[in-house]
Amino acid sequence: MEYKIKKLIVTGGAGFIGSHFVRLSIEKGFNVTVIDKLTYSGSLEALNDVRNNKNFKFYKESILDDKFLLEFFREKQYDALINFAAETHVDRSIENSADFVLTNIVGVQKLLDLSIDLHKKNQSFKFIQISTDEVFGSIKSGSFSENSKYKPNSPYAASKAGGDHLVLSYYKTYGLPVIITNCSNNYGNNQFPEKFVPLLIIKALQNLYLPIYGNGNQMRDWINVKDHCDAIMLILEQGVIGEQYLIGADNCIRNIDMAEKICNSLDDLLPLKNKSYKNLIKFVTDRPGHDYRYSINSNKIKNELGWRPKIDFDRGLKETVKWYLNNKTIWEKTLKENYSGQRLGLNKLI
Ligand code: NAD
Ligand code: DAU
Repeated sequence: MEYKIKKLIVTGGAGFIGSHFVRLSIEKGFNVTVIDKLTYSGSLEALNDVRNNKNFKFYKESILDDKFLLEFFREKQYDALINFAAETHVDRSIENSADFVLTNIVGVQKLLDLSIDLHKKNQSFKFIQISTDEVFGSIKSGSFSENSKYKPNSPYAASKAGGDHLVLSYYKTYGLPVIITNCSNNYGNNQFPEKFVPLLIIKALQNLYLPIYGNGNQMRDWINVKDHCDAIMLILEQGVIGEQYLIGADNCIRNIDMAEKICNSLDDLLPLKNKSYKNLIKFVTDRPGHDYRYSINSNKIKNELGWRPKIDFDRGLKETVKWYLNNKTIWEKTLKENYSGQRLGLNKLI
């Protein structure tokens, strides 16, 4: 099948979701240029299976580097820029939000300015901003929709909200063709271990306690990263310019239940002698300003674009646990070089 869109810039393409999206794009025959600073959470190894593909190029650069960006974008034409580049870890943002403001707001502004030139060179160019459901804050019951108000609580969420507002302002002010996606919590292979799912799996495999913030009753709405990437691909190809799409897979559960699901998978795949991994669960000091619940209503993308999540939650989670069992060398290297599993976000408490 011929695709109208051919040449993509993927910023943040060496991160968790970005690298899955790059793989999908290469599989679909797109020409992909990744710009990624390779911060603590980015890894070129995540792109090992596409690195030698003739349609793939990689630049280890920051979206904050004006000199590089000006040089890079001069003369070149692209069909779309998909921006995954961000500081993404909530506890880290509570510890220190400076880099979050820089990358998630100033970085987005720089990409938007350059995109105006890319649009002048190619009228079908579009800018896709990958955002999060956290911009809407916390919802006690019911679900977020495209009509929900922005009410971010953590510095991370506030910085992503700032980025989203800039994106929409460039649509209204300059007519830049933009689309924003807001997805719920992703899980899947090769996620950075500062996030809940990989952190618990990796701690369990080291026989360390599994930290559950507060009472564990907070709820998150989980989606497999591959379903998220399929949704982004569909939006890239068929999404309506100027629109926002919420993406979720209707798996809203309590953190304690998610922890128990992970433990059940581990009990199945690598049983301990005479005990369950659940014995490692420990309730610890809550996250400051901890959002109680996220839940997504994805009717818009389902009804208008025909998207459906394909991966069954329990099966997807078990496959993810298996990935960590089979890829110990990858996460051991990350623990050694980038993040050793320590608690973040409690130092600034007043
Ligand atoms: P991640 O932390 O795994 O990856 C972020 C990537 O951005 C890394 O490769 C990092 O090196 C790169 N990066 C950071 N600062 C940069 C800069 N200044 N210049 C260039 N590259 C830079 O994050 P992720 O989980 O893959 O999230 C990707 C995007 O999806 C983010 O925008 C995030 O807000 C959004 N999102 C994530 C989730 C989730 O559950 N993980 C859910 C919804 C939305
Ligand atoms: O909703 C989408 C967002 O999901 C993304 O935009 C963010 O980038 C991503 O980090 C994620 O934010 P959360 O705060 O929901 O994710 P995190 O993995 O940090 O935590 C998930 C839940 O688990 C949250 O309620 C806090 C809790 N938690 C987390 C950790 C790391 C624990 O109970 N113990 C932990 O050790």
